[in-house]
Amino acid sequence: MEMGTSIDIRLEKLVNPAGNLAAAAELPEHSGAPARGTFFLETFGCQMNQHDSEKVAGLLLARGYQQVKTPEAAGLILYNTCSIREKAAQKVFSRLGEYRGLKGEGKKIGLLGCVAQQEGEDIFSRAPWVSLVCGSASYRKLPELLAKVEAGELRVTGLDNDTDQTFETEMTRRDNPWRAYLTIIEGCDKSCAYCVVPFTRGPERSRDSSRILADLQQLAEFGYTEVQFLGQTVNSYADPSPRKLRFSELLLEAASVPGIRRIRFTTSHPRDFTPDIIAAMDSNQTICNHVHLPVQSGSTRVLRAMQRTYSRAEYLEKIAMVRGARRRTAITTDVIVGFPGETAADFDDTLSLMDEVRYDGVFSFKYSPRPNTPASSMADAIPEEEKSRRLVLLQEKQRLIQAKTLQSLENEIFEVHVDGKSKKENCWYGHSSCNRVVSLTSTAENLLGAYVQARVTGSTANSLLGEHII
Ligand code: 5AD
Ligand code: SF4
Repeated sequence: MEMGTSIDIRLEKLVNPAGNLAAAAELPEHSGAPARGTFFLETFGCQMNQHDSEKVAGLLLARGYQQVKTPEAAGLILYNTCSIREKAAQKVFSRLGEYRGLKGEGKKIGLLGCVAQQEGEDIFSRAPWVSLVCGSASYRKLPELLAKVEAGELRVTGLDNDTDQTFETEMTRRDNPWRAYLTIIEGCDKSCAYCVVPFTRGPERSRDSSRILADLQQLAEFGYTEVQFLGQTVNSYADPSPRKLRFSELLLEAASVPGIRRIRFTTSHPRDFTPDIIAAMDSNQTICNHVHLPVQSGSTRVLRAMQRTYSRAEYLEKIAMVRGARRRTAITTDVIVGFPGETAADFDDTLSLMDEVRYDGVFSFKYSPRPNTPASSMADAIPEEEKSRRLVLLQEKQRLIQAKTLQSLENEIFEVHVDGKSKKENCWYGHSSCNRVVSLTSTAENLLGAYVQARVTGSTANSLLGEHII
């Protein structure tokens, strides 16, 4: 069978000096005495954060550190943190609290990511057992900051936020052997009234297209066939190199790298979602037919208050553009309920938008006020119970929409990139190009990493069931 052999080659290739086969490399168990040169890294938050952690881990491995599975076994404990909503930020402080005694044992504790950037040096007063506080805009300085921590400095910080530089690493310890992430743009220049990201991740910085394409080529050589471009506003990409590639041109060049079978990208901002992106998707099937296009609200009034830079009608024009594509493209979104001043009529607008668009997936959140953001001082906060009520209504509506869509796909054929084996015998799962989860039955011996055709035989609330067509 075609894929059996290519998987073997792939694993061999992935165990390479660049350390890119993280998933297959077993991490040592807790070994008793805390060792110097070992690190434990826990990550909260979005895919950008997950991928930053892969880069940080690569950097540490290149410095001769060994990664361990528990904080107990580690000499250096790092938390890569998220502050998008209050709950996420609280989780970090409770985790830090659990380890207050560890500094006495000679361990070093460092805080990375969005909470680190947001709270800055205050972390040291709140948790004096922390010795490193570093936001993502300063990761390129991590080698020198780590050297200071290693030398025993107590309060090391990387908190500059106003930079035009990106975080480049020689080595990335990738967690997923099937889908590799590749940052193409860091930071955010939008100013959504509710959002901490422009504060925590700094201004927009696009990576040189030649570097991105070289990374991609290397990933293909390591055996990756599916790569996801990452950015807070991925489609605002502006190539700083003389080639000045547009985002759509970058997608097309990426799609022509030999060995690459799927290119994904997330998250797109509606304002910068232009027809040339759809044209690129239509002209090259390697570019996945899925767009994550956060709407946040269906009410133009609320969108204005959120400073989202588009109206309901303008957003719907973007949706019409996607729907007008030759390839049927899945659309997913993010929605916030209970933004300050959101009336019952505003919320109804969001519900009606959901009926109109019929999304393939929705991530929905209760508005959570964040420090320094314009919305945090807005009047007319919505009571917590009302936010919860709206969230339930929205999720229930989406559940029905999604179930119907999935049911309507019965008998259709999807190409599935298999990335897991179910506990059930002869059962595998993976993703379609449109990013639907497909569980499929097959008599093949090993499908991991393979691309197979599956006929849809049924569905669950969130996924498709299918059978492998040989
Ligand atoms: N409260 C609730 N949800 C938020 N998001 C961003 N900031 C907030 C906030 N303050 C949501 C948005 C964004 C997703 C990543 O998180 O929907 O698209
Ligand atoms: Fe969380 Fe936003 Fe930071 Fe990602 S960028 S980790 S979602 S706060």
